[in-house]
Amino acid sequence: MLLVTGGAGFIGSNFVLSSLADAEEPIVTLDKLTYAGNLRNLDSLRGDARHTFLRGDIGDRSLVRQELERHRPRAIVHFAAESHVDRSILGPAEFIETNVVGAWSLLEEARAYWDSLQGAERAGFRFLHVSTDEVYGSLGPDEPAFTEATPYAPSSPYAASKAAADHLVHAYHHTYGFPALTGNCSNNYGPYQFPEKLIPLMIRNALAGEPLPVYGDGQQVRDWLYVLDHCDALRRILAQGRVGATYNIGGASEKKNLDVVHTVCVLLDKARPKKSGSYAQQISFVKDRPGHDRRYAIDGAKLKTELGWQPKETFETGLQKTVQWYLDHADWIEEVTSGAYRNWIDTNYARRGAA
Ligand code: NAD
Ligand code: TYD
Repeated sequence: MLLVTGGAGFIGSNFVLSSLADAEEPIVTLDKLTYAGNLRNLDSLRGDARHTFLRGDIGDRSLVRQELERHRPRAIVHFAAESHVDRSILGPAEFIETNVVGAWSLLEEARAYWDSLQGAERAGFRFLHVSTDEVYGSLGPDEPAFTEATPYAPSSPYAASKAAADHLVHAYHHTYGFPALTGNCSNNYGPYQFPEKLIPLMIRNALAGEPLPVYGDGQQVRDWLYVLDHCDALRRILAQGRVGATYNIGGASEKKNLDVVHTVCVLLDKARPKKSGSYAQQISFVKDRPGHDRRYAIDGAKLKTELGWQPKETFETGLQKTVQWYLDHADWIEEVTSGAYRNWIDTNYARRGAA
């Protein structure tokens, strides 16, 4: 079986659901259920004997030890993290606690568990660390995309905390021979993404008749990947990746933020037209994010040549599916748009004001 950390979050829940749709192998999900974790994402697995949910912290070593001994996974897929850059700017402590100390605790317990295995179980064990392209820092407009050899230069507390975890994972492989792999992925979008991130925030705010807050000049570039393509890439890396290797995962789909927001508006204008005008009229330029990275871009050649992986969705097909999913799941948005979430919106966007 697989142990998946952070499996109630955005990418983790997509990974758990899509893995169980395709295969019989059981999954144990370990998740602390922070504001970003939502058990409702896994509702369709209620009563399914292949899935076990455990509420817990990756930093709780005795819990992790006990569960590893109880379930004896063949692999750990590690998603659990604090994941939002703006939150890391307002309060980095949780990011250090979970993304660095928690990831290290999990690694220590995973190493002890792996050490206890024998023969084929030991040889087959894998630890797949899910990381981000943000560890590489910001690119100029004409610089080549990030390869696996690009030096680390994280800018935000979030990116620095993920970079620290990546270094620990690499060191555990180098020092102990621990069978770890790392995926450094670009910006994901799709179902179940918490509406604090760009695309679901814009959809939610547009439908609620609220401003669409674009940071700075909106000319920052991200490389967008549909979440289920990321999940497929992770399964491919887990099955066939070289132990110790890092793989960059991208959508070959660089877009400026303002263009993304306009495309969301065009799709909404078509699917849920307003009485008058376009959702684009709600766009509002706000103060830029401090230290805002200008451009991310992934060179996906290694994953393509070594493992034959390429994304299936284009940005256009993936975004169309995503907008439709949010339109069909107004109740999901409503539920996660809780009091705590409103407090975050008030703190973050009041501080920004108009650009
Ligand atoms: P998310 O914030 O939606 O979900 C994170 C999940 O981790 C939540 O369910 C939360 O409850 C859980 N969690 C947080 N702290 C925990 C702890 N201490 N112990 C156990 N569980 C804990 O994040 P996401 O967008 O799904 O990202 C998942 C992973 O993928 C992260 O490691 C992130 O760095 C990485 N990543 C994300 C993106 C992206 O675009 N979202 C891109 C590349 C990489
Ligand atoms: P985000 O979804 O937070 O992902 P990341 O910072 O990890 O790339 O933001 C994506 C881009 O959108 C980033 O350049 C910041 C920008 N952005 C806005 O312009 N307005 C917003 O309200 C948010 C949340 C993000």
